[in-house]
Amino acid sequence: MLKVEPGSDPLRSAPDLVFRVWRDRERVELEAAGIFDRLARDLTRLRGPSDPVAALARTASSDELRHATFCQEILRFGPLSYRKPAKAPESMALGPPNLSLANRVLYTAVAVCCITETLSTALLLAMHKRAAVGTIRQTVHRILEDEVSHSQVGWAELSRAAGERDIGWVSDYVPAMIQAALIGESGPTLTRGEAESDFSRWGILPPSEARALMNETIHGVILPGLGQYGVEI
Ligand SMILES: [Fe+2]
Ligand SMILES: [Fe+2]
Repeated sequence: MLKVEPGSDPLRSAPDLVFRVWRDRERVELEAAGIFDRLARDLTRLRGPSDPVAALARTASSDELRHATFCQEILRFGPLSYRKPAKAPESMALGPPNLSLANRVLYTAVAVCCITETLSTALLLAMHKRAAVGTIRQTVHRILEDEVSHSQVGWAELSRAAGERDIGWVSDYVPAMIQAALIGESGPTLTRGEAESDFSRWGILPPSEARALMNETIHGVILPGLGQYGVEI
């Protein structure tokens, strides 16, 4: 990958909103670390200490913590108020409170891995093509390298659960999972003025383009993938 001297990194001239967006991404990475940590623990309780999918989830949790530090590297170029690392959240459980352990694991795997991580992979691929050479392109590349295996945690657990029991109940939750992922992946709202300019060299896709790409990924990849296991909406 092409390197640039830190002194000439294009980030030195980035507008403040770029750092606002990457600060929010740092928060999302830390949240993801907490969710994968909980998923790894739950999988271990459910399937035993040598479960391979639990091991993948554990790796994903430490990847997400590393992604947060990549965001920090970007934030070092920004306003002082963004340079203090955000606080890592506790383990986070997802889904309605009445789910059994096995069903909570499946819910989390589908919501976070099959849906959110697949969307994130598509967005990062598009960002990577247009990111400015230097810290931004390097960061997008490093995060992208991990996202594919994060989505695979979900497809692996989904395939395993579908082979063991009826998982049709997940279908009822898919629209809300997609909705939550769309909100999470859209990032902080840009003002109307900001949304009219193109910040893709800073790893920020125009909102209309991001929406179209997510829509395409939901209908072209995620829903057909879930459908293979009988999860349909
Ligand atoms: Fe990440
Ligand atoms: Fe991830």
